[in-house]
Amino acid sequence: MLQHLSRQGLPTLQRSIRYHRPRAPMCGIGHCTNCLVRVNGQPNVRACRYVPSPGDSVTLSNGWPSTRYDLMAALDLLFPRGMDTLHGFRRPRWATPWLQRVVRRLAGYGPIAPGSPPTVPSPVPALELDILVLGAGPAGRRASARLQEAGRAVALLDRGPIPAPPPGVTLLPRTTAVFLPPPHPASPRPFELVTLTEPDHGQLVRATTLVAATGAYDAALLFAGNDRPGVMSAEGAMAMAPGDRRPPFRRALLVGGGARAAAMLDRFGVHTEAVVAPGAISPEVTRRASELGIPLYPRTLLVEAHGRSRVRRAQLRARAGGAEFSVAADAIVLAARRLPHNQLLFQAGAQMEWRGTAGGYFPVLGAGSRTTVPGLYAVGEVAGFADGVAAEASAFAAADAILGKPVPPPAERGPDGPNELEGYYRELLQRPTGWRKQVLCPCEDVLVREVQEAVARGYRGLEVVKRYTGLGTGLCQGRYCLPDGLLLLSILEGRPPSEVGYIRQRPPVVPTPLGAFAGLAEPVPESG
Ligand code: FES
Repeated sequence: MLQHLSRQGLPTLQRSIRYHRPRAPMCGIGHCTNCLVRVNGQPNVRACRYVPSPGDSVTLSNGWPSTRYDLMAALDLLFPRGMDTLHGFRRPRWATPWLQRVVRRLAGYGPIAPGSPPTVPSPVPALELDILVLGAGPAGRRASARLQEAGRAVALLDRGPIPAPPPGVTLLPRTTAVFLPPPHPASPRPFELVTLTEPDHGQLVRATTLVAATGAYDAALLFAGNDRPGVMSAEGAMAMAPGDRRPPFRRALLVGGGARAAAMLDRFGVHTEAVVAPGAISPEVTRRASELGIPLYPRTLLVEAHGRSRVRRAQLRARAGGAEFSVAADAIVLAARRLPHNQLLFQAGAQMEWRGTAGGYFPVLGAGSRTTVPGLYAVGEVAGFADGVAAEASAFAAADAILGKPVPPPAERGPDGPNELEGYYRELLQRPTGWRKQVLCPCEDVLVREVQEAVARGYRGLEVVKRYTGLGTGLCQGRYCLPDGLLLLSILEGRPPSEVGYIRQRPPVVPTPLGAFAGLAEPVPESG
């Protein structure tokens, strides 16, 4: 549906919940909050995931009289320093009931569909599997194919359709593993996980062995106006312009200096106004940009996106105190870093390690791509192997280990060091923002300023600050705010990100209708 809605340009599909800031599709992969629409009365349907049927009624949400011209957007101007809906709105006492109604109105994504009684699906028996591969990207497909060729029963699950599947493999398309508790080692099938097949079919799955090939995603970036329509991830840009379709922008500012940015230049080069990167720009990006006459700004801060209903201009500044200048652009495409979809590994109790260079948590790996959880393997990008050759090697290593073949020692993931965004954000925080909001958590409209105030009040650590501010509690399950929140806290608390810690990763991995759980044949074990 996203391609359909973005045919006429970038649509303002909704308004944010607290400040009614305009929002347009950002991630394109069903993980942010920016494309929620109401379909046939049902609220909070992600347009980028929904496959429309003839006769569907689609309405845009959270704006009055429309999402483009929303009167409630006055809140954004009335509360330039943010409003404390979590701890405030309690006085005067006589007005509490009314204030509570206001707060509830500002904390939700709209009313549920009227007159639709909940349906409880009939229980379905658990699916019993030998080997389950989670993720049908290149690494997941490689591991499945090798295991199947060796005569093992393999099932391959993916959140989307599964193109070019390995022959003989059982396929579970459009299915997400939403809950993977730690295994029961004494059980013949130690892994018991819950899956969701869209739209609302829950299933209990038991497996002997799991291979996590859940991949990675293009991360967000902090700057004033980073939630404006037109700011999108590289995946979002590709989702709105699949194949060779025209993208919903004319001249974009591309952020990133590595392989991902080079791929974006291949796809959207003629629509790229400039390339800006927090650090160095690689020779491959330089070569492509030079061929197209695109200016490059290495080691440059993206300090602000200007424009109300969509990005019109980007404000840049050379790092280490250079003068500010602006670049006209109607979109900002984020291709600076990719972070692993590691939620299931956290849930399963795998030991994770902070890798500063990548800016994320990755599983501790042994020989044969083994995690510290017996029977659970991690391959490809989620394991820290972004390069195609290394990702394939990790998939083959896992398959060989499962087959009992000799495997090489654990692969190296390259040298580690501090994340380049730590220094970048330190500089960014010194720039006065005035009345402008810097949104850290777009799902819940949590501002950078609120996190700074929480730290000033003595709150420490990502989990504690999350509970105090609401950071990371939205529909994206923290994917787009917690990595930056972690770096921000590291700067504010003056200790490395690994000491700031992480949140306790709770299920479900993606928002799941309660009815899907009601249809499980057997109770789900507690996560411990
Ligand atoms: S654009 Fe659909 S969820 Fe992000």
